Amino acid sequence: MRIFSGIQPTGAKHFGNYSGGFRQYVATQEQGEAFFCVVDLHSITVDYKPQELHEATLDLAAMLFAVGLDPRRSTVFVQSHVSAHAEAAWLLGAVTGFGELRRMTQFKDKSDAQEFVSAGLFTYPILMAGDILLYQTDLVPIGDDQRQHLELARDIGARFNARFGETLKLPRGIYPEAGARIMDLQEPDRKMSTSTGSEMGKVLMVDSPELIKKKLMSAVTDIGREVRRAGDKPGISNLIEIMSVASGEPPDAIEARYDGSGYGRFKADVADAVVEVLTPIRARYLDLRSDPGELHRLLAEGAEKARAASHPTLTSMYERMGFTR
Ligand code: TYM
Repeated sequence: MRIFSGIQPTGAKHFGNYSGGFRQYVATQEQGEAFFCVVDLHSITVDYKPQELHEATLDLAAMLFAVGLDPRRSTVFVQSHVSAHAEAAWLLGAVTGFGELRRMTQFKDKSDAQEFVSAGLFTYPILMAGDILLYQTDLVPIGDDQRQHLELARDIGARFNARFGETLKLPRGIYPEAGARIMDLQEPDRKMSTSTGSEMGKVLMVDSPELIKKKLMSAVTDIGREVRRAGDKPGISNLIEIMSVASGEPPDAIEARYDGSGYGRFKADVADAVVEVLTPIRARYLDLRSDPGELHRLLAEGAEKARAASHPTLTSMYERMGFTR
């Protein structure tokens, strides 16, 4: 069983990334041969600063190990270190429709927020499809916001196979049961996101316990005082999901436990649960981040394994497409 997922070194990672990304990576690494990629090539599709990209790449690598990825078990690497990714993206562009890319809601959302809309922002899902397809991936652990991109990756893979012969395995997405879409704490009708929303709207992986408590205690709640999920209670519904992610308890059980107790105690308990999960991760992160030499070494090892694993697929793609080799 092959597992693949990618995460962008853009800005500080937050609790939504923990829920849909990090914690699922750690759980799935037990199920087979797992590859986790810091997708730095994706990060240049919006405005960015080269020095920040450099630091953010190391920050994210440290975070991947801090959450519990084991370098002996999982291959953790940086996308730009394995040139097959950029090559696969170009080749797959031949079987990706302009209209398909135009339908991507993330492109619509992100391009609205940019003054300069790069061509890379538009073709981004092809690069992502290549990431996944190069590894003959079975499972892709992701959050709900990447669902449309994963469906497109499957369509692109299927079209390649139909046109050039059976070459690429079509992967399946894995989404968390609770917390597949963590919402902004201040504007619970939009997802918690690196690029949008206020500072108080997102709990960051590296926030101090005091700041985590402050953010969760001032999260927007709804009219009424019942702790239960409902369409007209987006704030409380989100906090229940966050509690479920942090404590491992199903949302139903959380609702039952806080029946009749009001919002105040519930919010304080959510804050404690999140602090409990993030505190040891933060400590390991700071430790790992203080040794860039070791991080570079681990990433070089990961890149070597990723090169070896992706090479056969890239070679078959070139051959099936009729290139001379
Ligand atoms: P990225 O870097 O934006 O996010 C990393 C992971 O975090 C999940 N996520 C969330 N989950 C729940 N609630 C939220 N509010 C939330 N926000 C983010 C994302 O779903 C993701 O799983 N295009 C991808 C990176 C990528 C990739 C890939 C993923 C590139 N190649 C190949 C999988 C396979 C992205 O920008 O994720």
